[in-house]
Amino acid sequence: MAYFTVTIEETGESYRCSERQSLLIGMEALGKKGIPVGCRGGGCGVCKVEVVAGECQKRPMSREHISAEDEAQGRLLACCTMPASDIKLKVLGKMKKSVCRLQHPGHMSQS
Ligand code: FES
Repeated sequence: MAYFTVTIEETGESYRCSERQSLLIGMEALGKKGIPVGCRGGGCGVCKVEVVAGECQKRPMSREHISAEDEAQGRLLACCTMPASDIKLKVLGKMKKSVCRLQHPGHMSQS
């Protein structure tokens, strides 16, 4: 089985993700407890990310969350995307708050 490196652009963190694992599972394994893990099946839209570099394999995604335009820009649901090369991604939406907030544990931000 192939393993790839996934880098989160905002935080510079990276994790290994196998070709059979979704990007979301890999992110959870990184220990990001605040990751809003929703349905894991493409239904809730909380795990939206933007793949800025690399190739991935996608499972079919709901157009409710990912428009054709989103998809063309590399915006995908992490729970439905598996890496096919090393990947660099940005976190979007609800996920962004969790990922970026956890960069400063011990700081309770008011915002
Ligand atoms: S976790 Fe619900 S769409 Fe990805």
